[in-house]
Amino acid sequence: MRVRGAVCFAVGTKWSIEELELDEPREGEVLVRVEASGLCHSDDHVLTGDLAFALPMIGGHEGAGVVVRTGPGVHRVAAGDHVCTAFIPGCGLCDYCSRGMQYLCDRGAGMDQGLMLDQTARFHLSDGTGIGALCRLGTFADHVVIREEQCIKVPETIPFELACLVSCGVATGWGSAVNAARVRPGQVVMVVGIGGVGANVLQGAAAAGAAHVIAVDPNEWKHALARELGATETYHSIADARPLVDRLTNGQGVDACIVTVGRVDGDVIGEAFGTVGKAGTCVVTSVGQNTPGVAISPQDLTNYAKSLQGVMFGNCNPTRDIPHLISLYEQGLLKLDELVTRRYRLGELNDAYADMHAGKNIRGVLVHEHAGSGAS
Ligand SMILES: NC(=O)c1ccc[n+]([C@@H]2O[C@H](COP(=O)([O-])OP(=O)(O)OC[C@H]3O[C@@H](n4cnc5c(N)ncnc54)[C@H](O)[C@@H]3O)[C@@H](O)[C@H]2O)c1
Ligand SMILES: [Zn+2]
Ligand SMILES: [Zn+2]
Repeated sequence: MRVRGAVCFAVGTKWSIEELELDEPREGEVLVRVEASGLCHSDDHVLTGDLAFALPMIGGHEGAGVVVRTGPGVHRVAAGDHVCTAFIPGCGLCDYCSRGMQYLCDRGAGMDQGLMLDQTARFHLSDGTGIGALCRLGTFADHVVIREEQCIKVPETIPFELACLVSCGVATGWGSAVNAARVRPGQVVMVVGIGGVGANVLQGAAAAGAAHVIAVDPNEWKHALARELGATETYHSIADARPLVDRLTNGQGVDACIVTVGRVDGDVIGEAFGTVGKAGTCVVTSVGQNTPGVAISPQDLTNYAKSLQGVMFGNCNPTRDIPHLISLYEQGLLKLDELVTRRYRLGELNDAYADMHAGKNIRGVLVHEHAGSGAS
């Protein structure tokens, strides 16, 4: 079938809106009509080269839509189901899935190539060339063919533009606080970078019972929203927040500092690590593959028994955690509506990412146009 989608052809360029040919789903695969896709910073890393992915590639991984039809041998979902996309599959059988670590599922290997498990492409350019899809998803296309283990069924009552956010930014942020930092009641937590991910670290830290959730972001307008989402104090930089940290912790440092800036580098990690007190944890959620090494004090690491913790997908198990997070939303315990700053059409994708870089969005959401959907 013919679809429209956004392709990155080369590092340093912009998203190119293309007509593409999409193959039928094969064994274990599902055709999904994508309704909405959150505009996560990770897609932008492909354009900048901060994530070294095979190009050309269709962007988008924070998606939600409707199952149109399934290939042979699909058991997890059926036509008509509402789903959101898991950017790491949970096969359920590999060593990591078996140990409750779906975020490290062995089937995540090869995501940077974007080809299906049989190493073929489902998307083709107009000249017939097969191209990969980000995380084997490519939700910047209005339809995708994806693995069944990357489809997470969601209730029909949740709007697509909210369901899509749960599939990356919400799960990643919430899990960075709850699973990776293991925030406990009464702790002092700092969150550095309040975008679509950091906003949900605030929610996770507050729900876990942190006494102080200190939000750091240079964009002043985000501070009021940060407070709505659970921040107790807001600052423009880590350095600005230091006097408060010293006062709250008797000069010891925070229990957890979680880094969710748009593009991480060694300096930010070093500064965040330096803000953490004895037995505390510095969690690095941000991506910045091509950045120079991290400068941390090995003495602090050892003598103060500190931890430096990476986190993938919020260290979540998507088959359990995505429905769980949606149920928290339904119970009024998780805010999602507040996360959507602006909606965009496919043709506005580059404007949307310019807005993200300008710090104008918590999350922009791409809303796909479909015949008969009433979209204009
Ligand atoms: N580990 C994972 O599984 C995972 C998943 C999703 C996203 N990510 C990564 O998380 C990061 C955040 O993603 P996002 O979509 O929320 O990005 P975003 O661009 O929406 O938000 C980043 C925020 O950080 C702020 N910021 C930048 N530099 C800062 C600094 N030095 N101090 C304080 N604030 C600063 C920006 O003003 C912005 O508000 C990205 O690197 C993204 O690739 C990782
Ligand atoms: Zn993402
Ligand atoms: Zn697995």
